[in-house]
Amino acid sequence: MIIVTGGAGFIGSNFIHTWLEQTDEPIINLDKLTYAGNPENLLVFQGDKRYSLVQGDIGDRTLVTRLLTEHRPRAVVNFAAESHVDRSIHGPGEFITTNINGTFHLLESVRGFWETLTTEAKQSFRFLHVSTDEVYGTLTPDAPPFSETNPYEPNSPYAASKAASDHLVRAWHHTYGLPVLTTNCSNNYGPFHFPEKLIPLVILNALAGKPLPIYGDGQQVRDWLYVLDHARAIIRVLESGNVGDTYNIGGNQEKTNLSVVQTICSHLDALRPKTDGSSYSDQITFVKDRPGHDRRYAINASKIKRELGWEPQETFESGLKQTIKWYLDNQQWVEHVTSGDYRQWVQKQYG
Ligand code: NAD
Ligand code: TYD
Repeated sequence: MIIVTGGAGFIGSNFIHTWLEQTDEPIINLDKLTYAGNPENLLVFQGDKRYSLVQGDIGDRTLVTRLLTEHRPRAVVNFAAESHVDRSIHGPGEFITTNINGTFHLLESVRGFWETLTTEAKQSFRFLHVSTDEVYGTLTPDAPPFSETNPYEPNSPYAASKAASDHLVRAWHHTYGLPVLTTNCSNNYGPFHFPEKLIPLVILNALAGKPLPIYGDGQQVRDWLYVLDHARAIIRVLESGNVGDTYNIGGNQEKTNLSVVQTICSHLDALRPKTDGSSYSDQITFVKDRPGHDRRYAINASKIKRELGWEPQETFESGLKQTIKWYLDNQQWVEHVTSGDYRQWVQKQYG
């Protein structure tokens, strides 16, 4: 069996769906259930013997050690993190606590367990750390995409905390021999994406007749990857990745924020035309830019393609269509997440 952390969040829950579609190997999900953790993402697995959720913190060594010694997983996949750049600007503390200290405690708990294993089990054990392309900083328009050898130049508190966690993971391999793998992925989108992030925010605001906020001039570039392609890549790395290596994962789909928002609007115009005949793009509103906003991210994913045979199955067009359809078809999920903490956040961020 394997343990994942942060599996009630966006990418973790999509990973669990992908995992349980492919195998009967059980999976335990250790999740603190912060505002971003939503057990409803995994409702279909209620009562399924292969899946269980444990509410807890990756930084709780007693709990993590107990889980490891009781269940004896062959791998731990670490998705748990504070993940929203804008929240990290308003309040970086939680990012330090979970992304840096939490990863440190998790590594120590896992190392303690790993050291008790037989030589054979030690060799086959894996700790896979899920990270981001934001650790590499920002690119100028003509610079080549980030490869695994780019220097780390994180610019936001979020990116800095993820960079620190990547360094810890690297050090636990080099110093203690822990068999680690690290993945650095570009921006994801797809089902179960919490609507504080650009794509779900724009879909839901458009349908609600609200402004579609674009930071600054909207010419910032992100390399978008459909979340299920990311989940498949993580499984490839877990099964066949070279221990100690990092793998960049990306969709090779660079888009400006403005063009992403315009594309969403034109899909919605076709799928849910407004009664007054106007376009959703009329709701686009340019707002104050994010401080320290990175201009461009892009991933060179040739290593994972060459070594592990992974490449994305979805283009931005095909993935976005599925995503919009998912949000239109899952109104109940939307209603449940757009309450409580999320409403307070919207007030704080957009006024
Ligand atoms: P998310 O915010 O949707 O989910 C994070 C999950 O971690 C939540 O379920 C939350 O409850 C849980 N969590 C937070 N703190 C915890 C703690 N201390 N202990 C246990 N659980 C805790 O994030 P996401 O978008 O699914 O991202 C998952 C991982 O992938 C993160 O490490 C993130 O840095 C990385 N990543 C995200 C993207 C992206 O586009 N979203 C891209 C590349 C990498
Ligand atoms: P986001 O989804 O927060 O991901 P990240 O900052 O990790 O790349 O944002 C994606 C891009 O969209 C980023 O350049 C910021 C921009 N953005 C807006 O223009 N308006 C918004 O309301 C949000 C949430 C993001």
